[in-house]
Amino acid sequence: MSVNINHHVPEVQAYRASVLHFTADPAFHENAYSWHEDGLLIVKDGHIVAAGDYQHLKDKLPHDVMPLDYRGKIIMPGFIDTHVHYPQTDMIASPSPGLLPWLEKYTFPTERKFEDRAHAAQVADFFLDQLLSCGTTSAMVYCTVHQESVHAFFHESTKRNLRMAAGKVLMDRNCPEFLRDTAEGGVRESEELIERWHNKGRQMYAITPRFAPTSTDAQLQLAGELAQKYPDVYLQTHVAENTDEVAWVKSLFPEARSYLDVYDKYGMLRPRSMYGHCIYLDDSDRKRMAETKSAVSVCPTSNMFLGSGLFNFSRADELHVPLSLATDVGGGTSFSMLQTMNAAYKMARLGSTYLPALRMFYMATLGGARSMQLEGTIGNFVKGAEADFIILDPQATPLLERRTGHSESLEELLFALAMLGDDRSINATYAAGVKVYQR
Ligand code: GUN
Ligand code: ZN
Repeated sequence: MSVNINHHVPEVQAYRASVLHFTADPAFHENAYSWHEDGLLIVKDGHIVAAGDYQHLKDKLPHDVMPLDYRGKIIMPGFIDTHVHYPQTDMIASPSPGLLPWLEKYTFPTERKFEDRAHAAQVADFFLDQLLSCGTTSAMVYCTVHQESVHAFFHESTKRNLRMAAGKVLMDRNCPEFLRDTAEGGVRESEELIERWHNKGRQMYAITPRFAPTSTDAQLQLAGELAQKYPDVYLQTHVAENTDEVAWVKSLFPEARSYLDVYDKYGMLRPRSMYGHCIYLDDSDRKRMAETKSAVSVCPTSNMFLGSGLFNFSRADELHVPLSLATDVGGGTSFSMLQTMNAAYKMARLGSTYLPALRMFYMATLGGARSMQLEGTIGNFVKGAEADFIILDPQATPLLERRTGHSESLEELLFALAMLGDDRSINATYAAGVKVYQR
């Protein structure tokens, strides 16, 4: 695996394969996607020029440009993982009877190591290579309470020229002393990081209160004010993941109508606010999320691994809550968004709903971009978008080859990839027009 740190790209490149991308949510629109069986993607200076039929577009290519031949494979936008913890890479697959003991036993000791910049850089490097090998080109990333963990992450992301949002965890109570900041100190450090990193190249900052139990009212108040001061900065946190956590929040914030209402009171519901899990919401909460354009990061492998519960897709859709998919590693058990779709499908079935593959691929691409207010920048192949894309291989394993060899529709083909696929199905990953991973 090699990292291309040369960001200079020759003028025009073209790629021939089947091409798939979304222009709307298939749950609500008939013509939500474009599929070109023999397709062509044209890229110039790291941006999309055109995506369409090979026969139609080939004459538009400059004479000296030969398309790279990926026939038999599928080009689609890179995946967007809207909730993941890079410092938890080394503690993935750590067993525990539920969220709160898992945080105490594994998470906090693991995150302590990120006070060391060299350790943080080494983990960030590995983490980003994992994402790219799984076809994930953008993510909403939690760092640790240490400022250095954020610098390390953005340095590694900048090296690869990836569009990433990340932030320093805010946590000033109910956690070990060694991970505790203060209300004022944490928010001051966050503002310094915004000034240093937000919109520097493709890097974007996310204000990151870990979750309500680990912040005082004073810290939540200041975090909310910071979010109001910087409306184009992200905010990310956890909400309503686990019944013990929900009960804890109720005891800590007895005046709040609901867990989500704690964040609402502090002005944290807004566009670019991303809420992990959202399992134990009620319809009033869902309405507030929809009307404030706050987005859900659905984390199915994590929810099933920690036994947290089942996300309710049908209520969320009924009330038009923006949805995206996320791994939540290390609570999640895979960096692969294909494996995450596999789990999402099963989670939906256990809740008596049905998620078509097209919907899941939408959620992992354009749905993520829309949740992050980045439509037109990433998530699909509209003209001018940044050229983050992947080459999916439906024949990556003998079983996939056998199954996809007789799929009778695009839905069937994508469904097989979602159930049977993982990092092996990612042949190559491109960021801003540059190949950053080759299997
Ligand atoms: N709630 C608070 N912190 C965390 C975390 O690190 N992972 C998960 N899954 N839930 C959390
Ligand atoms: Zn999480």
